Amino acid sequence: MSAPPPVSPSEDDDAGMRKGLPNYGDAAFSLFLRKAFIKGAGYTDAALDRPVIGIAATGSDYNPCHGNAPQLIEAVKRGVMLAGGLPMAFPTISVHESFAAPTSMYLRNLMSMDTEEMVRGQPMDAVVLIGGCDKTVPAQLMGAASAGLPAIVLVTGAMLTGSHRGERVGACTDCRRYWARFRAGEIDAEEASDVNDQLVASVGTCSVMGTASTMACIAEALGMTMPGGASPPAVTADRIRIAEQTGAQAVQMAKDRLTIDKVLTPAAFENAMRVLLAIGGSTNGIVHLTAIAGRMGLEIDLDALDRMGRETPVLLDLKPSGQHYMEDFHHAGGMATLLRELKPLLRLDALTVTGRTLGEELERAGPGFAQDVVRPFADPIYPQGGIAVLRGNLAPGGAIIKQSAANAALMEHEGRAVVFESLEDLATRIDSDDLDVTADDVLVLKNIGPKGAPGMPEAGYIPIPRKLARAGVKDIVRISDGRMSGTAFGTIVLHVTPESAIGGPLAHVRNGDRIRLSIGAREIALLVSDDELARRAKEAPVVEPVAERGYRKLFLQTVTQADQGVDFDFLRAAKMVGKVPRS
Ligand code: FES
Repeated sequence: MSAPPPVSPSEDDDAGMRKGLPNYGDAAFSLFLRKAFIKGAGYTDAALDRPVIGIAATGSDYNPCHGNAPQLIEAVKRGVMLAGGLPMAFPTISVHESFAAPTSMYLRNLMSMDTEEMVRGQPMDAVVLIGGCDKTVPAQLMGAASAGLPAIVLVTGAMLTGSHRGERVGACTDCRRYWARFRAGEIDAEEASDVNDQLVASVGTCSVMGTASTMACIAEALGMTMPGGASPPAVTADRIRIAEQTGAQAVQMAKDRLTIDKVLTPAAFENAMRVLLAIGGSTNGIVHLTAIAGRMGLEIDLDALDRMGRETPVLLDLKPSGQHYMEDFHHAGGMATLLRELKPLLRLDALTVTGRTLGEELERAGPGFAQDVVRPFADPIYPQGGIAVLRGNLAPGGAIIKQSAANAALMEHEGRAVVFESLEDLATRIDSDDLDVTADDVLVLKNIGPKGAPGMPEAGYIPIPRKLARAGVKDIVRISDGRMSGTAFGTIVLHVTPESAIGGPLAHVRNGDRIRLSIGAREIALLVSDDELARRAKEAPVVEPVAERGYRKLFLQTVTQADQGVDFDFLRAAKMVGKVPRS
């Protein structure tokens, strides 16, 4: 038998269909077998001789945020073939916020492992990552960062807005607002049902600056999407065109060997941090960015993020910090409009997936035009960055607050702790008329951190106790070791580290303790002496949660805290090589 014909354009043993052959002890036979099987699907040698572009396909009936995935895959394939490549779509786990229990975050690292191993384990010269719903883009970036191939992100894009009785609505800031009105008795069940039909007007990701939109903007700021790739809505021609361009660019990246480490540099992460602050982005963004950076051996410096926040105003006027929706941002020019305003603060030398720098791409984007969604730097919607980092004896490892979505009257506040020990405790008592609570109190929720719930669910947006909601209370200081949806709003302290489930100080807060929040001083303080806290820890020692088997066991044994991105410890880079931003 003669040797099979070469199938790689470079004749390179580590490219195209020759890549990553299964071990049968005879590489030529392995390739012969691989070609025999793929020819069963009708491929020719000419097709198999091209650079192979993998397409991580995350369409799923359980994921309406990715409901346009079939059209996107078709357009990516067209782009790949126009550029001379061979597209190969493959499935990975898909995770939707409303369909993943106990929380999508619990499955993010599993999706990242799936992505990493499928990218590494199958023959491809570059990969297109089609993601969108909150955890999918970070999971794919984490996995691709570890796999190390050329990679390019294609987000599914935001949904359209709907209309309810003449009012424009969109998921999911308006979901929360209407639900709060229903709980307060301001609307009846019939209207709640009516608005439920209108909140999600099409497939695509949430239409406000929630985590999906935040991660789309961060992906573009990192240089990981085509220019303008963050903002086109899911069901538009612009989104399809970006998909075609993404496929074509993936082929070029494969030819140029533009590997992901050349794009995900400290400069790129610094730009992403700036953008996170300037868009009033989801607090989840910092956890995900920390996890992605950790895969590259980089640590996000939270204190530096806070310093950056003091000189980076919120410019993007989108809900929940502002008033517009993602489709308005797209009509206003998308990320180019924002980046133009931020230009003096950006690292313009950062390389992008196009092979050009961010600065060069901004030049190519041309001049801006009149619009009212991205504010001028001199006239921001909030004078500082959206996220502030808090420290204090309640959070020695840090905590964060989305100050741009907080209530100005509660930013400097001292109050009495009203403590809930767990989600179950919260569910049992929050709506009780007997709950001893006033609007001046501080609600504390324990055991919703990375190990606590587990998976650090987005339960930090503790509902206003029903009796206060009925009395017209719209906000109250809330503290937890959990996360909050980027679509939520309020004076809400999140990511308290270390978490209560591993014995952090939060575990020892009791009803009636005094807690002081000072966003000005970046402080979250439990006004209880160290001696008393040590006494309580001895009196009621914390027993860390464990599991007997399976993914849950892996999760509980290896998940890190929020300041390390809630990644698994063994998935982070073997060696940390520096901090971002570089001082
Ligand atoms: Fe998927 Fe909001 S639920 S982006």
